[in-house]
Amino acid sequence: MVTIVNSVKDWNDLYRSKDYCNARVGFVPTMGALHEGHASLIKKSTAENDITIASIFLNPTQFNDPDDLKNYPVTFEEDLALLNSLDADYLFLPSYDEIYIDKFNYKVIEESLSKILCGASRPGHFTGVLTVVLKLINIIKPNTAYFGQKDYQQYLLIKGMCEAFFMNVKIVPCPTVREESGLALSSRNKLLTPEEKIIAPQFNKILKSPGKVDEIINGLEKTGFKVDYIEETAGRRFGAVYLGKVRLIDNVEI
Ligand code: PAF
Repeated sequence: MVTIVNSVKDWNDLYRSKDYCNARVGFVPTMGALHEGHASLIKKSTAENDITIASIFLNPTQFNDPDDLKNYPVTFEEDLALLNSLDADYLFLPSYDEIYIDKFNYKVIEESLSKILCGASRPGHFTGVLTVVLKLINIIKPNTAYFGQKDYQQYLLIKGMCEAFFMNVKIVPCPTVREESGLALSSRNKLLTPEEKIIAPQFNKILKSPGKVDEIINGLEKTGFKVDYIEETAGRRFGAVYLGKVRLIDNVEI
């Protein structure tokens, strides 16, 4: 059974009492609404480490749109069942006050990559992500932390932050897990209507099709997506689209 830890003090006590300083600790930070993508990160961590700790913290500072935060799926009982079925050892489940003892007065600001792609349309998003991930890594003190490549920009920024601040942790990118249809798994997929679920797989199909960015944008718009951005950089094509109210992101190698 996964052991739930709610406070920084409890984790510090456990960490010392069990001598986890000498164990390989793997960490999978999440915002809950877990799916097979998260499961793949946890499986990799349990395979590579002595203990695996996941966190669930729906981090308000990374939501630029209050409605997005309000509508974000919460499936705690199912999350717990999944963590148990995967033999995760601990779940760190802190409150807002536990994480933001400083009331979000101290922030990690990245001045370049965080301003493009998702950062351009979601102001402040990556400051919230980087700040919470810095806090979580400082609290948990893992040897390795695992992140999905669906959020490739997030992965690059977290890796960059850990290098910039000489953080003693290895950041491991893990392949995007997809439905058979090609749709990248995401907690937000739970918000799609049955009709939108039928269209959603076209996002990945069109994103990875040959052609110029303009053609990809046209194809997506014709299929019913509202395009936030399609851009090519660092050997990848990145995209974000809206299907109704749901924002989907994906990226493919080019
Ligand atoms: O990818 C996520 O779920 C979140 O951005 C993360 C890394 C858990 C930080 O809140």
